[in-house]
Amino acid sequence: MDPILQVEDLTVAFRTEEGPITPIQGVNFAVGRGRTLGLVGESGSGKSVTTKALMRLLPGNARIDPQSQIRYRAKSGEWVDIHRLRDGARKLRQIRGGEIGMIFQEPMASFSPVYTVGNQMVESIRLHTSLNRREARALAIEMLAKVGLSNPGQRIDQYAHELSGGMRQRAMIALALSAGPALLIADEPTTALDVTIQAQVLDLMRDLQRDLGMSMIFITHDLGVIAQIAQDVAVMYLGTIVEKGPVREVLKAPQHPYTRGLLRAIPSLDRLTHRLSPVPGDIPGPSERPPGCPFHTRCTEAIAGVCDRLEPAETMLAPDRSARCHLLQTAGRATA
Ligand SMILES: Nc1ncnc2c1ncn2[C@@H]1O[C@H](COP(=O)(O)OP(=O)(O)O)[C@@H](O)[C@H]1O
Ligand code: SF4
Ligand SMILES: [Mg+2]
Repeated sequence: MDPILQVEDLTVAFRTEEGPITPIQGVNFAVGRGRTLGLVGESGSGKSVTTKALMRLLPGNARIDPQSQIRYRAKSGEWVDIHRLRDGARKLRQIRGGEIGMIFQEPMASFSPVYTVGNQMVESIRLHTSLNRREARALAIEMLAKVGLSNPGQRIDQYAHELSGGMRQRAMIALALSAGPALLIADEPTTALDVTIQAQVLDLMRDLQRDLGMSMIFITHDLGVIAQIAQDVAVMYLGTIVEKGPVREVLKAPQHPYTRGLLRAIPSLDRLTHRLSPVPGDIPGPSERPPGCPFHTRCTEAIAGVCDRLEPAETMLAPDRSARCHLLQTAGRATA
């Protein structure tokens, strides 16, 4: 893999009224150039905090552990540790929103209520390229057309709140892409949409990613969505990556009990209407992170006396494939 982003040992703590919590603990993953990494996990597993850390968008009560590394290969070819850039540094401004674009579940978070879609796109393009106002506007219209907005020449002068939910989502994608990012981070961009529009937006994002040769981190709680959009996957549970690897291999032969649970929860074609086996039990809060394997309170395969005491290490199954589970060390499955 030719990586564009390498995250090593990312650990994030928050100060809260109930005391400190560490919802992200030692996260490692890489995003390959021109590839899509799906980051999947239930709500509360730490996906958004991870991506906010990558973009240096964490709130004031957060602290990224000093040993964490967020290495991004800039368009210039140099490696930049985003974690070590100064707040307000020119390089950080170039990267955030320029080389690395971001889209969210809620498009209104990206749009200002007082500027038109077009004004915001033009501003963003001018901040990150050398185009003049007229050229930037032409590019904005082109991007709106590319994401499938009808009458882009008129839509560009509308406000985001005047667009329908699906159109607004497309406009947000156009806004993020207009600065020409090398990496797009998409945090549950289709979760709030109805199923038909969700499918259209997924198709659109997959096509754009391919056409533009962009890299992408696509975040979702739905492993079924990962199968449609990503080539690589990282499965997150309580702030730890429990399994990762190429999507096809992870879906074909999941090695971690949590991944197997998520996979069983995907409705298959012959039982579309009900999800038979969601992972039972609730995800504990970060202040209740269990000792040993963080998943042991919900794991049907837990080994008593082992899983509740010892945190499993990462077992490498192939150069690009790993999982964290004691079963892999005790049962010799690591060779599968
Ligand atoms: N600003 C914050 N202060 C304290 N805790 C936070 C803050 N933001 C997120 N958290 C906690 O971090 C954990 C992970 O949250 P998040 O990354 O949003 O999960 P996900 O995106 O996977 O649903 C949650 O338990 C959440 O309550
Ligand atoms: S280490 Fe133990 S508790 Fe954790 S996933 Fe594996 S079997 Fe289950
Ligand atoms: Mg989230």
